[in-house]
Amino acid sequence: QASERESMLLVSEFARDYFNETLLNHPKGKAIGLSYFKERGFTDETIKKFELGYSLDEWTAFTDAALKKGYDIKYLSQTGLTIVKETKQFDRFKGRVVFPIHNMSGRVLGFGGRILINDKKAAKYLNSPESEIYHKSHILYGIYHAKQAIAKEDNCFLVEGYTDVISFNQNGVENVVASSGTALTSDQIRLVRRLTPNITILFDGDAAGIRASLRGIDLILEQGMNVKVLTFPEGEDPDSFARSVSTGELKEYLSTSSQDFINFKVSLLMEEAKDDPVKKAGLIRDIVVSISKIPDRIQREVYIQECARIMSISENVLFSELAQMFKKEQ
Ligand code: CTP
Ligand code: MN
Ligand code: MN
Ligand code: MN
Ligand code: MN
Repeated sequence: QASERESMLLVSEFARDYFNETLLNHPKGKAIGLSYFKERGFTDETIKKFELGYSLDEWTAFTDAALKKGYDIKYLSQTGLTIVKETKQFDRFKGRVVFPIHNMSGRVLGFGGRILINDKKAAKYLNSPESEIYHKSHILYGIYHAKQAIAKEDNCFLVEGYTDVISFNQNGVENVVASSGTALTSDQIRLVRRLTPNITILFDGDAAGIRASLRGIDLILEQGMNVKVLTFPEGEDPDSFARSVSTGELKEYLSTSSQDFINFKVSLLMEEAKDDPVKKAGLIRDIVVSISKIPDRIQREVYIQECARIMSISENVLFSELAQMFKKEQ
């Protein structure tokens, strides 16, 4: 008899197949879901690779199909695929296109479901709930399709969303994973660290995206990894950018536009501080905090020198600030 966990994985994999089959072969799936993906520029090959799907806009179409196949309502409910409320049951992803979320070995842990028409009343994306198999803080969308390329390129691009991962893949860049809109966690970074010590953060070109990238930097440094940052023109995200250029142009942009985290932070914060000396002092401390996260002493020294150079202040001041921080921590 299958374990609880295995039963949840099996019903999730049935759901993946059912939603994919609906997208490709059901008249409504084709008319609504497939045309949505086609309008976004996804090819048949991409849809197949990422096992994309569609959940019909009916209350129990999926749940009925699963029960008929003999899947237990217990596991439909535990995976959140079916929402069970007192005596009523209904399909969580009703009327949404779905993105299966895989672990490193390709098992399906959960789904992200996107509404087709942006309206302010419903959340744009709905995800599987936390469960024994789905822990959103441990998951990186795309890791299964990216793992080989990450090791080969010795670098991992980190983006925000499902469609960013997919459009990069379609345009020839496979070493990419998404934090899926949540604040990056140490567990997610550890998954990447098994494959490479190098991460390049690629966030949306809006204020929220830039703030999110700043938060991620220190966490990555703490794990002794190297972090670069690459931003997109305002209003673009990696998906829209990748679709607007050729494979060659995308690769060229990625290889020439990334900045070392320290240059990124300095130029961003400098712009905010302008000539205000109080603000400037605050930002210098902020940068020294980031440097203090680096476990390797020699690397810290190199960064202090770099920081002193680009901000034209004395290394001594920075070193004593750094020493203060270590004192405070004890
Ligand atoms: N997200 C989420 N719930 C929301 C909004 C976003 O879980 N209500 C997650 C999704 O994983 C999404 C990511 O955050 O992919 C990034 O959000 P956003 O940039 O708003 O979406 P995009 O990925 O750009 O999606 P699209 O292009 O379809 O609008
Ligand atoms: Mn957990
Ligand atoms: Mn965004
Ligand atoms: Mn986005
Ligand atoms: Mn987008």
